[in-house]
Amino acid sequence: MCGIVGAVAQRNIVSVLIEGLRRLEYRGYDSCGVAVLGENGPVRARSVARVADLDAQVHEGPLKGRTGIAHTRWATHGAPVTDNAHPIFSKDTVALVHNGIIENYESLREMLRGKGYRFVSQTDTEVIAHLIHSVYRGDLFTAVREAITQLHGAYAIAVLHKDQPNTVVGARQGSPLVVGLGDGENFLASDALALAGSTERFIFLEEGDVCELSLDGVRIADRDGNDAQREVRQVAAYGGAVELGPYRHFMQKEIFEQPRAITDTIPQTESFDTSIFGEGAADAFAQIDSLLILACGTSYYSGLTAKYWLESIAKIPTQVEIASEYRYRESVPNPKSLVVVISQSGETADTLAALKHAQSLGHKHTLAVCNVGTSAMVRQTELSFLTHAGREIGVASTKAFTTQLVALFVLAATLAKLRGHLSDEQESGYLKQLRHLPAALNSVLALEPQIIAWSEEFSRKEHALFLGRGMHYPIALEGALKLKEISYIHAEAYPAGELKHGPLALVTEAMPVVTVAPNDALLEKLKSNIQEVRARGGQLYVFADADTKIVNDEGLHVIRMPEHYGLLSPILHVVPLQLLAYHTACARGTDVDKPRNLAKSVTVE
Ligand code: G6P
Repeated sequence: MCGIVGAVAQRNIVSVLIEGLRRLEYRGYDSCGVAVLGENGPVRARSVARVADLDAQVHEGPLKGRTGIAHTRWATHGAPVTDNAHPIFSKDTVALVHNGIIENYESLREMLRGKGYRFVSQTDTEVIAHLIHSVYRGDLFTAVREAITQLHGAYAIAVLHKDQPNTVVGARQGSPLVVGLGDGENFLASDALALAGSTERFIFLEEGDVCELSLDGVRIADRDGNDAQREVRQVAAYGGAVELGPYRHFMQKEIFEQPRAITDTIPQTESFDTSIFGEGAADAFAQIDSLLILACGTSYYSGLTAKYWLESIAKIPTQVEIASEYRYRESVPNPKSLVVVISQSGETADTLAALKHAQSLGHKHTLAVCNVGTSAMVRQTELSFLTHAGREIGVASTKAFTTQLVALFVLAATLAKLRGHLSDEQESGYLKQLRHLPAALNSVLALEPQIIAWSEEFSRKEHALFLGRGMHYPIALEGALKLKEISYIHAEAYPAGELKHGPLALVTEAMPVVTVAPNDALLEKLKSNIQEVRARGGQLYVFADADTKIVNDEGLHVIRMPEHYGLLSPILHVVPLQLLAYHTACARGTDVDKPRNLAKSVTVE
């Protein structure tokens, strides 16, 4: 989603800004821009194409400067056209980039119109630029602090002013912003990743903070206007850009990285020890009587899968809720419930807001399952489990999902042990099975050629139905999500038992029905559902475990999974669905890693 980069230096910083935008590209955007302070005020270049196009423009210009801001925009208010691309100017004096949404922009716009400001974009952002201009009395830092008191909504902004060379001011509320510290130069970004290569020293700004970057330092004020000292963190892990290697897309690479990602995520301990989740976990886990899982998108589906494990192994009541629903509904809080937020990025606005909402309702114990150790979510929870998927570039999440499942299985087993529901034999059995997972996954990945053959068929369809039962129902949901996200084929998932209550009406030859058919207690029930589809002329595409006795037949296409993997089966069964979506999208020629209208990290609600 939207990305911010800013810099103050004694050298031309345009290449730093463009490189920063490049590093944020994978998050999804539909326009981009950069502005620097020139002799007569801010000058800018904007593009509704890719960052590469912006780069060409700044070279041609040429655009040069020592103080600058840059942005990738994912349109919310106003179409992705040049006029709406950031940086947005006010009277050729103030230049501003903004992530987030200003909810009261309409009333502010009326007020500013009344003061003679002319609006040239459809963005909510333009009100912030004019507002800052209207309250500026010679000090940008003070003007920004004053202006933001009138904003309702979420924002991270970076601003520069014609009369203040060597100054960039930033502010955050509800959207992330980090300061990068250099020698005689300083930076600002919505994600530390954007500044890899420029610095490894970061300050993660807190809610309500306003900062002022100059050549020799950074000044920060907290939400009350007091000087704030924030911890400087060394973050070396960002390294260079991730290479694609022999793969066609990052999504394919990430699917094939899953055995490694899972190996890195499985705890090295010899038992399911509470310490895996942090120092206070033993105390916190001893006090809880239930779980409330909050997440969005793919992460929500990992939570849905985990519910089956948590209730069956740990016997602990578990509620799973979409974060954007939970945050706005009236719920009955149970302070003894452990709130688990699941997120690849740790920055998803709705999940962060849901976490805060839960905390405000009195939930004391919170745990983040997250792929980014420096993220807001990890910083705002009591406990955490870091998945070690590594950077995920493809918008459609794959390795983050399977590593989340590993983390959540470990959580279920740990709680089961603590609550006296796990024998020594079961514990060593689960640990052994977890350690064997990467090898089992490699056998599943070897099915790729068979899946490619199916994807040719799928690429000509416009609709698909996914069926699963029990803990494989969320896997069917995830399979359908993957297919719609990247191939733009309409896909829906149902628990197979619901087939007769509606979706069967849709079954014709034109609607492929993908079925997740592991050899578990529900297999016989599922076989009946398969017959219901066949009897109506439907085309079935079944992922069956080797020993299910489901064989190829007319209207029945079967790919055999190498082995049945018991409780961990969802982690294997999702992989062929990822591959099916990936190859179908390739056959349709879509932009697999950056599907239209979607963003990797959704930092606005
Ligand atoms: C976006 C991404 C999805 C992701 C979801 C939640 O929609 O495109 O792939 O599942 O956000 O993101 P999170 O970072 O919180 O897991």
